[in-house]
Amino acid sequence: MTEFDLIIRHGTVATASDTFRSDVGITAGKVVALGASLGSAKETIDASGKLVLPGGIDAHCHLDQPRAQGLASGGAIMADDFESGSLSAVFGGTTTIVPFAVQHRGQSLRAAVEDYHRRAGGKAYIDYGFHLIVSDPTQSVLKDELPSLIAEGHASVKVYMTYEAMKLSDRQILDVLDVNQRAGALTMIHAENYECIAWLTEKLEAEGKTEPRYHEDSRPMAVEREATHRAITLSEVAEANLLIVHVSGRDAMEEIRRARARGVKIFAETCPQYLFLSTRDLALPDFLGAKCMCSPPPRDPANQAHVWQGIEDGLFDIFSSDHAPYRFDEGGKLMYGPKVSFSKVANGIPGLETRSALLFSEGVMTGRLDLNRFVALNSTNAAKLYGLHPQKGTIAVGADADIAIWDPQRKVTISNDMLHHNVDYTPYEGRTLTGWPVTVLSRGQVICHEGELLGKPGQGKFLKRFRAKKGGTAWT
Ligand code: URP
Ligand code: ZN
Ligand code: ZN
Repeated sequence: MTEFDLIIRHGTVATASDTFRSDVGITAGKVVALGASLGSAKETIDASGKLVLPGGIDAHCHLDQPRAQGLASGGAIMADDFESGSLSAVFGGTTTIVPFAVQHRGQSLRAAVEDYHRRAGGKAYIDYGFHLIVSDPTQSVLKDELPSLIAEGHASVKVYMTYEAMKLSDRQILDVLDVNQRAGALTMIHAENYECIAWLTEKLEAEGKTEPRYHEDSRPMAVEREATHRAITLSEVAEANLLIVHVSGRDAMEEIRRARARGVKIFAETCPQYLFLSTRDLALPDFLGAKCMCSPPPRDPANQAHVWQGIEDGLFDIFSSDHAPYRFDEGGKLMYGPKVSFSKVANGIPGLETRSALLFSEGVMTGRLDLNRFVALNSTNAAKLYGLHPQKGTIAVGADADIAIWDPQRKVTISNDMLHHNVDYTPYEGRTLTGWPVTVLSRGQVICHEGELLGKPGQGKFLKRFRAKKGGTAWT
């Protein structure tokens, strides 16, 4: 009888479609057998009473992006690189991350990708891919760099409709959508109307309304709704698939539902901040609201309820952290001082390590979601959308043994001290959750177990990602 490298015994395995009692046999980093009483192995993990789930895929996180003005960061330093970011991810049950190689204006896209490889190399504990961000779609980017980089395994490209140094015109977005669709990449879009935000910001600042709570007034739901509608229209004109990232509430969701009812293939992502944070957090005293500033901003409780509805009914395909690691200090959120206008504060909040457990506790353990939908949102759908399935995102014979073993009853009170990122706060401080990943494997290697780190930086490999082209699966 074959001896496996490792058997995970007596657990309850769940995928995006099924839940079943099974041992998992692992050899050479892959799942090679599923079944009862699998036989012998060099090592065994007893998963009695535990859930054996595909490791999470956080397909929207920002790590070690170069500093520049006119971006979401406002020039602040990202506190997490590939080492601390991937460490934090894995302790939260995530085994694949996809951060962004950002092209700055005037820069070659290929140079941006090469620079990002240098930043990532030898650091990650878990596997990673790169999305591309295009901020300067010159003819050489459109005709040469973008198609060739997509062909080399970068199957997704983000564009922005806001931020001075990132925003593209509608015509430029059409160009990028067209190239992406032909070359086999999914376009991701940050949908907020730049002109409206600039106009509202100027007005609020002239009225002396500069505290963090006015961040939401400067980019209300209408601003996101208009941009979401326009982005969808552009994708229809270009006949290209589109993913709307970080959707924050009802109006944008309605645009997505309407588009789908017309038969337009639109994908949608939301993030923990739109379920668990609100305008009340932005209004915290002593500038503390800045800790919860991200764009689009957290909305009111009615919008939180709408986002939960979209999580439950399938409107949202993926659930990502949008981890943007700015410390609450002079290198990060307080870079321009503790009393500056909201428009000078770096946008983004940390969340790589807390993403999955927040959704598990408040989704699965409350009965809002079944376990299979949790797995789909947390892992499988991102693998399918971004060209990683079935290598990643499932537990099946032949898949990488990227597995998170969860104790569904474990009570954990979140505190920043227990987290492994390099940010000095978490917006979820003091929140008690039920369910936590206790053992996490990347390609069959145990990276962490019961709070102990067993993996090494540099174990993670770069993942080339390819999406099926036209005529492929339902996910294209
Ligand atoms: O505020 C946010 N979301 N910061 C990160 C950058 C982005 O636009 O995703
Ligand atoms: Zn964005
Ligand atoms: Zn982001």
